[in-house]
Formats: sequence, C-alpha cells, structure tokens
Amino acid sequence: MSTGDLDTARDLLEAASSIVVFTGAGMSAESGIPTFRDALTGIWANHDPMTLASPEGWASDPDLVWAWYADRATRVRSVAPNAGHLAVAELGRRRGVTVSVVTQNVDDLHERAGSVVASHLHGSLFAPRCQDCGRPESSDLAAATPRPACPLCGSTLRPGVVWFGEPLPSDDWRRAENVLDDADLMIVVGTTGVVYPAAELPERTCAAGVPVIEVNPEPSAVTTFATVRLAGPATQMLPDLLARRDQS
Ligand code: OAD
Ligand code: ZN
Repeated sequence: MSTGDLDTARDLLEAASSIVVFTGAGMSAESGIPTFRDALTGIWANHDPMTLASPEGWASDPDLVWAWYADRATRVRSVAPNAGHLAVAELGRRRGVTVSVVTQNVDDLHERAGSVVASHLHGSLFAPRCQDCGRPESSDLAAATPRPACPLCGSTLRPGVVWFGEPLPSDDWRRAENVLDDADLMIVVGTTGVVYPAAELPERTCAAGVPVIEVNPEPSAVTTFATVRLAGPATQMLPDLLARRDQS
C-alpha cells in the first residue's frame, strides 16, 4: 500500500459525518476466528457448507449441526475483540460522526469492543430460537449440549444464523438499508464480497456515489469498485486510518 492510499482514506474519513462500517470474517480473523474462504485455514476449506450451513444439512443431522455451532459459540466466547474492533468502536465515540456497524459476522466481537451493531445480516451465534414456533431463547443456551428443547412448544432449538438458501432477517436488512441511505462513507473490512444479498450493499453504495474505503490484505470483489484499498490487516489498517496525521 502506498502512503498516498492512507492519505486518501484519511481525507475521506475527515470529510465524512455518517459512516457505515461493513464487516466480514477478516475483521475477526486476528482474534483467532477463522475466515470462510481462506484456501488453507478457511472454514469452507475444511467443512462442507451444505452439511453445516443449510436447511437440508440441519434436517439430516441436527445434533451434528447444533454441536458445531455450539463449539463455534464456545470458541468466540474464549477470544477477545482485536485492535480493529476497538478502532471501529473508538470511531463511533468521535464527536460529529455517526457510525453504524453492519456485519456479516455471527460473533459478538463488535459489541464486546463497545460498538452498537445496527445489523447482523447473517444472524448471531448467540441468538438460538425454536425451529418451529420461532421463540427466541437466551444466549446462554447457544453452547448448551445436548441440543435443548423449546420450553414453549417442545420442538427443538436451532442456531440463530442464516443458512444458505434462507432469507436474511428482515429487520436487520431494513436497518442496513436505512443507515446506508444516510451514509456519506462506507468502510468495508475483511470480506470477499461474494455472498449475496449482503454483497449488494457495498456495490449499491458505490453506485450511489458514496466513497468506499476497503481494508483487506488481499484484493476482493469489493476492490473492483472501492475508492481506495488499504492493503493490510484490520488490526493495523484501522488504527492507522484513525490516527492523526501528526502521529504517523
Ligand atoms: P470470507 O472468508 O469469504 O472472506 C474473508 C476476507 O477477509 C478475505 O477477503 C480475506 O482476504 C480477508 N482477511 C483475512 N484476514 C484479514 C485481516 N486480518 N484483516 C482484514 N481482512 C482480512 O468471509 P466473508 O466475506 O465474511 O455466511 O464471508 C461472507 C459469508 O460467507 C459469511 O458471513 C458466511 C459465509 O458463508 C453465513 O454465515 C451466512
Ligand atoms: Zn417452540
């Protein structure tokens, strides 16, 4: 990355008053949560998404699927937000700017860093609900084994994440669209930008003439239209972006 890119990004940040931070798995990678599409360590390199992340997989082996998400919830609870999450939260505390976090991540690391998340587009590891009556259950049950039953109707709880082929939670989608309507800057962190409809949001933002800063060590589908890419990891690039010029 050239210093010019960092300067350009800082200029965009200084000019902005309503910022949407759109995040993907790369945001949490340095907290120790694997991404999905890394060729070697990615979750989908080592597990079949149709077994673990589809309604069909759930129907064929709910115990296996529940156990896998319970394990992920336990893993997330054992790690901490990283310097990137903390930088996003710090930006949210700056006077004169509104920061809305829209995330594809199902972890709670933004919240634990101190951000209010406007939208969890792909649900949450910590929001189990009944598969039949839909009643939401306590996050305490996210890692419970064996798979708990619904206290209301006796059916079974399912993880509160969105699986392939399922619609996104409508309230989260609406909130994401609302904050994007007002945005004058989008910062996209750590996503390949290939899973729709979430990936539509950065595209649409750019098409509306709003600048897009991408933070990603690798090029992605977002790179093709981003105004500028900060080519490095979130824990370095987000603090650098927020640092005052005279500090660097
Ligand atoms: P991916 O695994 O597809 O992409 C992760 C991105 O993060 C890649 O572009 C990496 O280059 C980048 N990355 C890796 N380390 C990074 C770091 N330290 N700092 C910044 N970026 C880094 O993950 P997503 O794009 O989030 O869906 O995947 C989208 C959706 O696909 C997920 O929400 C999930 C998955 O199937 C559901 O759960 C429904
Ligand atoms: Zn129920």
